[in-house]
Amino acid sequence: MGIRKIIKKGDLSLKKTSRPVTEYNARLQILLNDMLDTLAEANGVGLAAPQVGVLRRAVIVADVSGEEPIYYELINPEIVSQEGEQIGPEGCLSLPNIWGIVTRPEKVKVKAFDRSGNPFELEAEGLLARACCHEIDHLNGVLFDSVADRFLSDEEIEQMGEDE
Ligand code: NI
Repeated sequence: MGIRKIIKKGDLSLKKTSRPVTEYNARLQILLNDMLDTLAEANGVGLAAPQVGVLRRAVIVADVSGEEPIYYELINPEIVSQEGEQIGPEGCLSLPNIWGIVTRPEKVKVKAFDRSGNPFELEAEGLLARACCHEIDHLNGVLFDSVADRFLSDEEIEQMGEDE
């Protein structure tokens, strides 16, 4: 298990633009394995490499609509099309205890590469589409608190926990 420390808001590397991955080497495999372990341990729906201090364009998103999460590794991801709109709560492992209402597309098509450098497309909707947008924002130094329509009150956060 390679659990890495998740960087919290205030660290300047979260505001930086990450560089493309150019080499699909052993170092990348280790980074992705560690990110998977770190994300699974945190029970999150997404993690971007800059959140573990690596300024490279690599993210992992989790489809949590089934019984077990399905993880997608997206290297050099780009949103190539989007459709519709969803307005809902969003959080971030780098901003603990803060939740905001963020408007995102309902569906996105993401072009990316897998860990071996093979191109593929992911069509995502709902929470997975939200996670793709949120994680790709991280690669551009954008945190959700700068795109939130408003923040949830402590009471609303408590209620959200009870609904789960
Ligand atoms: Ni985040």
